[in-house]
Amino acid sequence: MKPVTHSDMQEDLERVLFEESTILRRIDELAATITAQYQGRELTVIAVLNGSLIFAADLLRRIPLPLKLDCLSVASYHGGTTTTGSVVFKQIILPDIAGRHILILDDILDSGVTLAAIREKLSSKRPLSVKICVLLRKLKPRLRPVEADHVGFNIGDEFVVGYGLDYMERYRNLPCIGVLRKDRINPA
Ligand code: IMP
Ligand code: MG
Repeated sequence: MKPVTHSDMQEDLERVLFEESTILRRIDELAATITAQYQGRELTVIAVLNGSLIFAADLLRRIPLPLKLDCLSVASYHGGTTTTGSVVFKQIILPDIAGRHILILDDILDSGVTLAAIREKLSSKRPLSVKICVLLRKLKPRLRPVEADHVGFNIGDEFVVGYGLDYMERYRNLPCIGVLRKDRINPA
């Protein structure tokens, strides 16, 4: 079989921030912390699609607890690189989370608008607890007051792609995470 290369997509990166091996090592640590925290508790993981798909797949397989998995799909970006401020939930029926410990998984905490809206919506369903785990957290002021309980990596305020994160639905399958070249971003 021919080896898989991602060279075309790699060329669109200004620089690589985290190689695949670095990401997986950090996910090992996150999984160990989360496993210890939810020992003996009824855990439901809510993965926010599409961005957290690859992160969730790698993280959850490292958590040896009898957890449940649900997915939510929201749209807040509409193709650009900055948030529009409005969050649209794409499903009508939310998972039944009453009486359960909820861990929300998302790819990145940026403005906080998305995670604040999701946390608010889920908290109204009477869960026992709601915590947030993100792979990346941008170090910048938030538009909504929301903090992550578990963070893979802190990054600067730059637009990144790869390992699930997209620009106009591209680059999600890049194994590393990198800063997208400015000349690859269409002017709005
Ligand atoms: P928010 O601004 O915190 O609401 O982030 C909303 C969503 O925007 C995230 O879940 C990501 O899907 C996307 N997003 C924010 N920053 C980036 C980035 O640097 N690269 C790719 N997607 C991003
Ligand atoms: Mg996105």
